[in-house]
Amino acid sequence: MFCFSNTLKHMATKLIIDGGAPLNGTIAIDSSKNALLPIIAATILTRGLTVLKNVPKISDIENLLHILVSLGIRVKWQDGDLYIDTSEIADSRLQTAGEVSPTVAGKIRGSIFVLGAILGRFKTATVPYPGGCAIGSRPIDLHLQGLRDLGVRVVERNGLIVCKKPNRSLLSATCYLDFPSVGATENLILTSVLGKTRTRIYNAAREPEVVDLCNFLNACGAMICGHGTSTITITGVAALHGTTYTAIPDRINTASYLIAAATCGGEVTLTNTVAEHNANLINKLVKAGSNIKIDGDKITITHHTLGLPRYARNDRRTPSLRAVAKQSQISIHTSPYPGFPTDIQSQLAVFLATRRGTSTITENLFENRFKYVPELQKLGSKICVKDKSVIITGVKKLNASSDERLPLALTASDLRGGVALVIAALAAKGTSIIHNAEYIYRGHAAIERDLVALGANIIRVDM
Ligand code: EPZ
Repeated sequence: MFCFSNTLKHMATKLIIDGGAPLNGTIAIDSSKNALLPIIAATILTRGLTVLKNVPKISDIENLLHILVSLGIRVKWQDGDLYIDTSEIADSRLQTAGEVSPTVAGKIRGSIFVLGAILGRFKTATVPYPGGCAIGSRPIDLHLQGLRDLGVRVVERNGLIVCKKPNRSLLSATCYLDFPSVGATENLILTSVLGKTRTRIYNAAREPEVVDLCNFLNACGAMICGHGTSTITITGVAALHGTTYTAIPDRINTASYLIAAATCGGEVTLTNTVAEHNANLINKLVKAGSNIKIDGDKITITHHTLGLPRYARNDRRTPSLRAVAKQSQISIHTSPYPGFPTDIQSQLAVFLATRRGTSTITENLFENRFKYVPELQKLGSKICVKDKSVIITGVKKLNASSDERLPLALTASDLRGGVALVIAALAAKGTSIIHNAEYIYRGHAAIERDLVALGANIIRVDM
């Protein structure tokens, strides 16, 4: 019997960190939040049991599961795996229940994927607007324009998006995205996998999470090709079955821990990673003086914060990436994959805040992703915002409170900015307390457990 007791309770969480020490040890990376959200929504399109292996218990996933349960789908966690069974639910139950709960849908960006999945299976769908981290206006115009390109009738009324597919199946449909939106690409794929239509999406997003969604759907019997390129072709099929699947490792959490090691110094090994997904960042860290070894699904980073790193013995089997010259001036522009990811912009700013030289990061994707800056200034960072960029002049040391009874108060405003504050507090001399740390648990099951494994002095306090 499948059941799902939503363990999610809204709670305030704080992290107390005593920083200033290097990080040494090993962390296994969880499966990717941004791959799992569309994959979980995609199970609505399938008939049968799907088992997703090694799924982290993070609040964004628990919120999305709450939506699936509200649609009558049965889910169960067991030994870290997630069982989702749609076989016992009659279509009519799902169809009449097509209106998703606005309170839960409004909490996560991932709820927008339910639109494409319900529409893909039932030809009609009514969902509220999605939520997500407050890093910008987060419009969905590209999603809706893409659906209209595919012949879907879209009406927005009373805070709901009401969609209806054309009665007759089009032989073919084409959509030209004005921007390679990850979510819009994923939603259009979900809408198109069932039926008799051949759909082509131009200027599609190439992120690894889009590729993973397509690999999952093909494992369920879909016919998708071109994923990973900017043109994706979906040939509709009659039905999709369940499957057993392991999503890709979380490349953003991988990047955050690599940056933490480079910022604090030490030697850290990450397992269950795909180095290629972080090629851009790895290249920048090596240029900035890190020594990085890649060995299968393991990445080992060694960074000595004082001067050039002593290169680890160069093992012929796994030659380390080494800097041609340590660069002091770094200029970075965020852009869609395989460019520099917007999701690690704030974390890298912390690394640059503690390096010699003046660096610039320009944020091209989201218009409100610098809320961490005043928090870094409290730690003594020389960082300021100018238009779409942060300008950072490195300082020798960040400083928190020397009195652990009166820790320096920092406040998180979103998931990735919150992780950046954790990295800054780990690097700073003294004690910090991070308020609103619950944002961090949208994307990390237990960041404090991971960092304690690296020797960090960090305590989680739930209120
Ligand atoms: C996904 O968000 C990720 N979230 C984000 O990660 C990530 O930052 C983003 O892709 C970019 O890589 C999930 O996958 C759940 P977009 P998404 O559509 O799909 C504009 C995290 O921390 N846009 O590629 O919302 C948008 O405003 C989160 O894990 C429109 O204008 O991103 C932004 O400027 C944060 N109209 C740009 O496109 C639309 O209809 C990229 O957005 C859609 C997007």
